[in-house]
Amino acid sequence: MKRFNVAVIAGDGIGPEVIAEGKKVFSGIAQMDGNFTVTFEDFPWGCEYYLKTGEMMPADGLDTLRIFDAVYLGAVGYPGVPDHVSLGDLLLRIRRGFDQYINLRPVKLLRGAPCPLAGTEPGDIDMIVVRENTEGEYANVGAHLYPDTERETILQTGVFSRYGCERVIRYAYELARREKRTLTSISKGNALRYSMVFWDRIFAEIGKEYPDVETQTLLVDAASMFFVKDPKRFEVVVTSNLFGDILTDLGAAITGGMGLAAGANLNPERQFPSMFEPIHGSAPDIAGQGLVNPLAAIWSVSQMLDFFGEPLWGERILSAIEILLTEHRMVTSDLGGTAHTSDIGAAVLEILARA
Ligand code: NAD
Ligand code: IPM
Ligand code: MN
Repeated sequence: MKRFNVAVIAGDGIGPEVIAEGKKVFSGIAQMDGNFTVTFEDFPWGCEYYLKTGEMMPADGLDTLRIFDAVYLGAVGYPGVPDHVSLGDLLLRIRRGFDQYINLRPVKLLRGAPCPLAGTEPGDIDMIVVRENTEGEYANVGAHLYPDTERETILQTGVFSRYGCERVIRYAYELARREKRTLTSISKGNALRYSMVFWDRIFAEIGKEYPDVETQTLLVDAASMFFVKDPKRFEVVVTSNLFGDILTDLGAAITGGMGLAAGANLNPERQFPSMFEPIHGSAPDIAGQGLVNPLAAIWSVSQMLDFFGEPLWGERILSAIEILLTEHRMVTSDLGGTAHTSDIGAAVLEILARA
């Protein structure tokens, strides 16, 4: 019997509301399957913990998490704690500390999901964004010079290492080759004449090893336009940390909203646990009312099962979400329904049990 040990950081705002549904789905699936079990250990880390203890997670938090097969995270950040502290000391610390250098974000229009783009059908938007996740614009490097003077000056440095760029670009080429799909690199070499020129050069260099993979390179401004005007042109996409962050919220907007966008932070070598999370934040504007959509958090359970070597369950969860959306009986208000967040996990399990 396989046993999956998952560390849960439900976090702030709507985090606990959506994670509760994802846990229900994972536990229900383990029961249905019978060949594996899942155990969750909850960690109360986040903004409330910070207000009590002065830290977002204990100093040895990464050592504590290290023994788990994965981390399942809700959302981090709440008014009252500066965002750069809450995110920098928890989410970004885990991504960097566990060398989760691949952030895999599907941008896929499921059947039954609302799309604001006229004439767009499921199948027209089906991409996977491979976002660099440990360096780039998010490298924690900078300086604050001459504070409290008229010369106050800020430096925020992007870090693009050959090692860091090569590994994420190679991962994307391998994925495109395996899935026989095109690969688009999104960068900004015309303006960022060091970092992005380097990125483009490495993309072209590695491409020589993959003559079978059809590629395109786009500037990020034009790519944003094509996400809206012609999303069909994207299959596998590889891009930097910040561009990937921004483009995947745009991706969420064209595929049903923040309630339907999941992401996996992977350490492909499995030296450290990987982390699975919805890509949305803690949504303080609507937290605590049981109104939010937990399908993104449930989709990240599907990504977790893929990573655990149970891709059939990964697929089944996505199909169940599609059936739920298509039947439209049990959906939350962002999708035009009246269901409560806490109804959704059971509804997904009910659909899974039909098969
Ligand atoms: P957000 O993603 O929390 O919210 C953006 C909008 O989407 C809001 O109107 C919100 O109500 C809506 N929304 C988000 N998730 C939803 C869901 N599941 N169902 C229905 N509607 C949903 O982004 P924000 O408002 O920019 O950030 C709020 C806080 O979250 C900040 O502290 C920010 O730093 C943090 N944040 C954390 C993460 C993370 O932990 N991974 C990601 C993004 C933002
Ligand atoms: C995301 C979030 C984070 C990011 C923030 C909260 C630091 O927006 O996961 O998309 O920018 O990576
Ligand atoms: Mn984001």
